[in-house]
Amino acid sequence: MFRIQTMNKISPEGLELFPRDKYEIASEIPNPDAILVRSASLHDTVLPDTVKAIARAGAGVNNIPISACSERGIAVFNTPGGNANAVKELAIAALLLSSRDIVGGINWNISIADKADEVPDLVEKEKSRFEGPELRGKTLGVVGLGAIGVMVANDAVALGMEVIGYDPYISVDAAWNLSRAVKRAETLESLLTKADYVSLHIPLTDDTKGLLDAEKIRIMKKGARIINLARGGLVNEADIITALEADKLLSYVTDFPTAELLACKKALCIPHLGASTPEAEDNCAVMAAKQLMDFLESGNVRNS
Ligand code: MLT
Repeated sequence: MFRIQTMNKISPEGLELFPRDKYEIASEIPNPDAILVRSASLHDTVLPDTVKAIARAGAGVNNIPISACSERGIAVFNTPGGNANAVKELAIAALLLSSRDIVGGINWNISIADKADEVPDLVEKEKSRFEGPELRGKTLGVVGLGAIGVMVANDAVALGMEVIGYDPYISVDAAWNLSRAVKRAETLESLLTKADYVSLHIPLTDDTKGLLDAEKIRIMKKGARIINLARGGLVNEADIITALEADKLLSYVTDFPTAELLACKKALCIPHLGASTPEAEDNCAVMAAKQLMDFLESGNVRNS
């Protein structure tokens, strides 16, 4: 019998794949062979000696102590691409939210709920407060051309945007094959100087921590907008807030709220909803379950 400890709620689509005559699955289980996790951090968790594998039902692995796992020979899996479409759709929504003041408009709507008689007059008087530019013809800089970045780039082209992409890990040809719409920026700096909108689609690592800081923001266009559904730690948040307050940046939409960002009127925080669709949750749980079964039963390591 293999024992799987689940952390977080994992979609039943994945859990049901484990044959019950071979697997015991529970959130509390002694001596687990493997851990199946979504967003919970394992950095401060004492991993029992019996653990041989950890599968993350999601793309980022910054919630897993990778070096400690390598030292102990624990295999770590993630599910790249499993939630890419869900994140892409939220990124496109974020792009629109960063441009058109839809949130301001909805808040206004709520604020006048008891003034039904005055609505037509109020609309005429106040609609100019919520004006925002169109995306068509503007330049989007996509940082990171993995599964999500490429999908965002393609859809942004469909919205009429010019798209430039930067990814230090893929070649010109690979980028071209993935998305014929993306023009390649040779450096992050050249992307930042040209983009009206910048969308981040890279993992959080020691190299990418605080990537967008005051120095990088300085070279961006005045009035640029940033979308960060990847990880909060990719930006220096204090520098972002300073730039928003100085109108250097016009908006920052992020899936990673903090108290400081919530207090800043020009930041728009979403409660980490990028992968929160039933489809993405099912995909990731199924991928992670298959990876674990393959590994525990046959020793195969596959990350798809
Ligand atoms: C990811 O890294 O893919 C997301 O953080 C997944 C999630 O929200 O569970």
